[in-house]
Amino acid sequence: MPIPAYDLTGRTALVTGAASGIGRATALLLAEAGAAVHCADRDERGLAETAALIAKAGGSATAHPLDVTDRTAIRAAVRAAGPLDIAAAIAGVMHTSTVLETTDEDLDRILDINFKGVLRTCQEAARAMIAAGRPGAIVTMASGAVDAAQPGLLCYSAAKAAVVQLTKTLATETGPYGIRVNAVAPGWIRTPMTGRHSPEVREQTEAAMVRMSPLRRVGEPEDIAQAVLYLASDASSFMTGQILRPNGGVSMPW
Ligand SMILES: NC(=O)c1ccc[n+]([C@@H]2O[C@H](COP(=O)([O-])OP(=O)(O)OC[C@H]3O[C@@H](n4cnc5c(N)ncnc54)[C@H](O)[C@@H]3O)[C@@H](O)[C@H]2O)c1
Repeated sequence: MPIPAYDLTGRTALVTGAASGIGRATALLLAEAGAAVHCADRDERGLAETAALIAKAGGSATAHPLDVTDRTAIRAAVRAAGPLDIAAAIAGVMHTSTVLETTDEDLDRILDINFKGVLRTCQEAARAMIAAGRPGAIVTMASGAVDAAQPGLLCYSAAKAAVVQLTKTLATETGPYGIRVNAVAPGWIRTPMTGRHSPEVREQTEAAMVRMSPLRRVGEPEDIAQAVLYLASDASSFMTGQILRPNGGVSMPW
């Protein structure tokens, strides 16, 4: 028998980054749990594939091609979704450059997508939830990169650290409306994003992660989707302002 707290029947969810990797796995799982899922991404082809996968599995999906740097487009998608119960702000990009090589343009681009894209999504979703007088759950995508310093990851990890601070701050402001805001900070997950690293970097990093993890494996997108489902559902009804770290145990902060 399904566990009622995880049942999303009758709920509406917006998932950004839904065309690929973690966002796609999340969109599929939220739909499987019963939500009507509004999938948003700038990759129209991937988006159509995700929507088709959800429909094939018997779920409800609507595709919204958009760029998270475009506030008007996000607002339109939130409006089109109707009363919103769940928003998962997952869209993001990788960037590597050393601190000394980083340009103003690099920093502006990565902050615009990885931080301000999440901020815009959270703002539009929270405003709609408050206006509709509905409690809701917002889930942001941070990264294990916020717990460690690595060469080349300044722009990426600074944007993700800002996402953590956004998550905690928004949680303090929307809690009185019954809106919970939590972040997921995954470890290394096998997705097209990590697949774009060179084979050497990929092999070395995966080997290091397997060595460091008590579970002796790297993560799959479905591992992270399960964490998002938990935070999006009533199963996490007393969780807000928290950072959940599905990372195979590679970091165990106090
Ligand atoms: N894969 C990992 O190891 C890992 C670890 C920690 C955090 N994350 C985070 O998880 C999220 C998903 O990553 P993934 O590994 O699934 O990557 P991915 O590349 O497979 O998917 C990212 C998706 O975001 C979309 N996207 C990127 N920029 C966008 C924009 N401006 N507007 C709209 N859509 C945009 C892409 O089109 C893509 O569909 C990202 O925020 C990433 O930083 C990933």
